Amino acid sequence: MKTLKLSRSDVTRGALILVNPSHPLQEDRKENELLPLRSVATPILLERQAAKMLAKVMSFLDCGEQITLVSGYRNRREQQTIYEDTLREQGEDFTNKYVAIPGCSEHQTGLAIDLAENKNDIDLICPDFPYTGVCGQFRELAAQYGFIERYPAERESITHIAHEPWHFRYVGYPHSEIMKEKMLTLEEYTDYLKQFPYHDTHFTFTQKGHCFEIFYVLILPDMVSVIEIPDATPYQISGNNDGGVLVTLWRA
Ligand code: DAL
Ligand code: ZN
Repeated sequence: MKTLKLSRSDVTRGALILVNPSHPLQEDRKENELLPLRSVATPILLERQAAKMLAKVMSFLDCGEQITLVSGYRNRREQQTIYEDTLREQGEDFTNKYVAIPGCSEHQTGLAIDLAENKNDIDLICPDFPYTGVCGQFRELAAQYGFIERYPAERESITHIAHEPWHFRYVGYPHSEIMKEKMLTLEEYTDYLKQFPYHDTHFTFTQKGHCFEIFYVLILPDMVSVIEIPDATPYQISGNNDGGVLVTLWRA
C-alpha cells in the first residue's frame, strides 16, 4: 500500500475546488501553472491540464474558427475591474446575476472558460453559445474531456449565478461524467461526495471498462490525515475548498 499524507493546503487545490460566494478562492494561481491558448484578441490563459483538455476537444471537433475563446484565467484585479465596470454600466441586478464577486470567481482558478459562437459583436460578459450546431457538438463532448456547464438554468438558488450557457468549468474526468449523469452542480456534487468517507463505503462509477472509486477525506485544521491506497493504482487528489479532499482511484 502507498501512504498519502493530506493536510490543509490540499483542501484548496485541485480541479474540484468549489469557488462561490461562500467558498472564496484561498490561493492565487501561479503563473507557471497556466498555459496560453490561441484566441482572436489577447492571449487566454488556463490552468495547464484544463488548457490541454480544451485544446484536445477543440481539435477533435475540428471546428476551426467557429468557436471563440472569450475569457479564461483572470487575476483578482481583472475580476475587480470587470465587476466594477459592469456595475457602473449595467447596474446591480445584472452584475449580481452574471459577474462573481472578486475573490469568488472561478475564472481566478484558471479552471473556467467562456466560449462564444464566432460572429460579429461578441458580448464579453454574456457571449452567445447556443445549444445547437457546433456549440451543441462541443456540449455533447465536453464531459468526456472533463468540462461541465457550470451554471445551468433553474439552479440559480444553488449556484448564486444566473444561467450561463457560455461558462464551462474544468473538473476533470470522471467527475464531469458523473455530474452530467446525475445532473448535479458542483455545489451539489462536492456535498454529495461527503457521504463517502475514507473509512466507509466508497462511491463507485463505471464507464467504458474503467471502474472509478471515489472517497472523501475530512481535513481538520492543523491535522495531517494519513490514508492508504493500493500500490500501482493510478489516483488523483483534489481539495473541495470546503474542508476536505476527494481521492479518485482508477481501478482496472
Ligand atoms: N461570470 C462568472 C460567474 C464569473 O464572473 O466568474
Ligand atoms: Zn465565465
